[in-house]
Amino acid sequence: MLHRTIDRFLEGQRWLEPLSDTLQGWAGAIFRSRAGQALKTLLNGTWLGHPLHPVITDLPLGAWTLAVLLDVVFLFDRSSTWHAAATVAIAAGVVAAVGAAVTGYTDWSDTVDRERRVGVTHGLLNLAATILYLVSLLIRLYGGSAGAAITISWIGYLLLLAAAFLGGELVFNIGTGVNHHTWEAPITEWTPAIRVGELAEGVLQKADVRGTPVLLHRKGTVICAIGNTCGHAGGPLNEGTVEGTRVICPWHASRFDLCSGAVKGGPATVNQVRYETRVQDGQVEVRRSPETYQPN
Ligand code: FES
Repeated sequence: MLHRTIDRFLEGQRWLEPLSDTLQGWAGAIFRSRAGQALKTLLNGTWLGHPLHPVITDLPLGAWTLAVLLDVVFLFDRSSTWHAAATVAIAAGVVAAVGAAVTGYTDWSDTVDRERRVGVTHGLLNLAATILYLVSLLIRLYGGSAGAAITISWIGYLLLLAAAFLGGELVFNIGTGVNHHTWEAPITEWTPAIRVGELAEGVLQKADVRGTPVLLHRKGTVICAIGNTCGHAGGPLNEGTVEGTRVICPWHASRFDLCSGAVKGGPATVNQVRYETRVQDGQVEVRRSPETYQPN
């Protein structure tokens, strides 16, 4: 299996660890302040309800694929129009690659272990591809050898494809960026969660409801319930902290409204599943709110 070979190879690259530590240290410093947190939330795509990085990555990939095709036509036709069109496509790809790099770096800054290793390699390959495209662009703009410019950009394209493969590995095999509520069993009928007497005022309480972890919070007679597993990367919200009407995830500090489950701060991009609550015979019962979002 190719991904096992890649895993073994990357595990042997010890130098990736200190490099990752340094890069994540920089991200920590950049995003530490309140303004930095707002910037991070923006780059994560919380406002979009979807990670921003995969949206932007299509732009350089598309532009540079177009450039390959235009260069192929140029090699047959020798018309400078094709060469000029490829130059424009490469320039557009370089601009878009900056956006892809910034958003990717932001998402990657919250990763650990294997996803961190694969992610940093994905980023380094993309960086190398972008540098090659930049060199090719300069050669084209300053009237250098067309052959050299095309060769360099095609090497960049091969690196880009390798990086795209690792991007797919991150999402489809490791699950980075996947909504962690996706495969939780939906609770659509009223189901007992906890006895009222066990629900202390103001305390984050986790209940296992038919195998699905639910976070309960009581303020006076109002009992709120949302999914306990953070949609971002699976952090246990009952181990987080309460800030006013919000719970802060203990892993990467996403903020969610305790009663609606709405995400109020990234890196999470989707709301927590919200549950309706009622008390029956001293027992708190929950069921998924019909307005909440859960893919199943
Ligand atoms: S797991 Fe990342 S913010 Fe909750």
